[in-house]
Amino acid sequence: MIQIIEAPQSQVHRRDMAFHARTIIEPFKVRCVEPLPMTSREHREAKLREARHNLFALRAEDVTIDLMTDSGTGAMSQAQWSALMSGDESYAGSRSFFEFESVVRELTGKRHVIPTHQGRAAERILFGAIGRPGLVVPANAHFDTTRANVTASGCEALDLVIAEGNDPRSLHPFKGDVDLARLDALLCERGASVPLVLVTVTNNTGGGQPVSMGNLRAVRELCTRHAVPLFLDCARFAENAYFIKTREPGFSDRSVESIAQEMFRLAHGALMSAKKDGLVNIGGFLALDDDAWARSCRSALILTEGFPTYGGLAGRDLAALAVGLREVLDERYLDYRVASVRYLHDHLARLGVPLLSPPGGHAVYLDGRAFLPHVAPRDLPGQALSIALYREAGIRAVEIGTVMFGRTGEDGRQIPSPMDLVRLALPRRVYTQSHVDYVIEAVGYVFERRAALGGYRIVDEPPTLRHFDCGFEPIADERGMRPGGK
Ligand code: F0G
Repeated sequence: MIQIIEAPQSQVHRRDMAFHARTIIEPFKVRCVEPLPMTSREHREAKLREARHNLFALRAEDVTIDLMTDSGTGAMSQAQWSALMSGDESYAGSRSFFEFESVVRELTGKRHVIPTHQGRAAERILFGAIGRPGLVVPANAHFDTTRANVTASGCEALDLVIAEGNDPRSLHPFKGDVDLARLDALLCERGASVPLVLVTVTNNTGGGQPVSMGNLRAVRELCTRHAVPLFLDCARFAENAYFIKTREPGFSDRSVESIAQEMFRLAHGALMSAKKDGLVNIGGFLALDDDAWARSCRSALILTEGFPTYGGLAGRDLAALAVGLREVLDERYLDYRVASVRYLHDHLARLGVPLLSPPGGHAVYLDGRAFLPHVAPRDLPGQALSIALYREAGIRAVEIGTVMFGRTGEDGRQIPSPMDLVRLALPRRVYTQSHVDYVIEAVGYVFERRAALGGYRIVDEPPTLRHFDCGFEPIADERGMRPGGK
């Protein structure tokens, strides 16, 4: 096992400051503010009923702290807003496209850079071009939309994360690593049916856990041996590179940028949801070297997204993205980003709240099953906890467990997924420490009263990606928790 080397917390600040500050400050100040909705418990109970207890159906104006996702919810910098104003909106050959293309090429080293409106469009286009029934796509773990797009193309999606990656309490520093023995076995047995190997950095499904460079290098070696291309799902590549720098021996003196470049150079291509580490509200891309694949992808792009120099985005979006992809590699920003997540994690851990540890780069994941041990996994403990956080404190989290990855069995009962997590994702550069303190207090409040919470059942569901649209009802007559009551 790799030894954890936690870099001094304020690595960058120490270098610059005259004194050794323990406080990692936001490396920005705020110049534009948005009012925060404040609601009553009664109001939230009514909204929950209207939403069929599905938090995706709530209006944002009824949510006080929105930790549903870090995707497209970040704040742009003044440099990005300036870039937005000078975006070139030409249909073909836009200047903003070439700015974006040159940043992505420098980062990834790939010849073909294909913009898409977001990550799942890149997934659909790539797997639409290369997928067919009978093929299998192994990954450390597929995110939900990735799995859905792989499956929609006829391929089987197979998750091969290391065993520690499914153990919420394992302190392995790289719980996103691929299980090399299982990957090797699959490639030996069915290599000819594997169009590519996908590594998600960081592994969102497993808790935003990073993948080590050592593991990526070993995966690449296996891919080379079996002549199978390696692709990254690189939505959170900068956070992953930061963890390599701070946790993996031999990387502390490297810049995060050079680590990210090495990650990309180990792969033959990458799928990006720029709504995360692109620091923009919309955008994505595909980057790859293979000319034939790039040609098929561009044809599909023209059919459904747009001409290859805008790919479903406005020129201004590409201009802001070109700036965001540079800003995200600022190590002061990454120090602050990872420290904010760790702050939330460590304070909740001190209260005894069961969590996925160590914390990842974009979110803290509560272990819903351990939080509500009296609610059976088939009764959706993660959903029950998410609902309680909204009802009690106006906080919107997202269940990443049986609702998202399980399914309804023949007998109508839920077939649980390996874990029932509740993700508190921190949008980038949006909430301050007092917002996070409020969240800590709220989770602590619900934790003290957890015995009063009951399970939920699904009352209607669509055939795919059911979590976005299904309806729930409480199993028992839920009185909820009254303030002050236990
Ligand atoms: N890959 C990963 C690892 C993701 O986390 C996401 C999205 C996607 C692909 C799809 O990208 O949303 O731009 O189409 N994750 C969001 C989340 C939705 O909340 O974690 P998209």
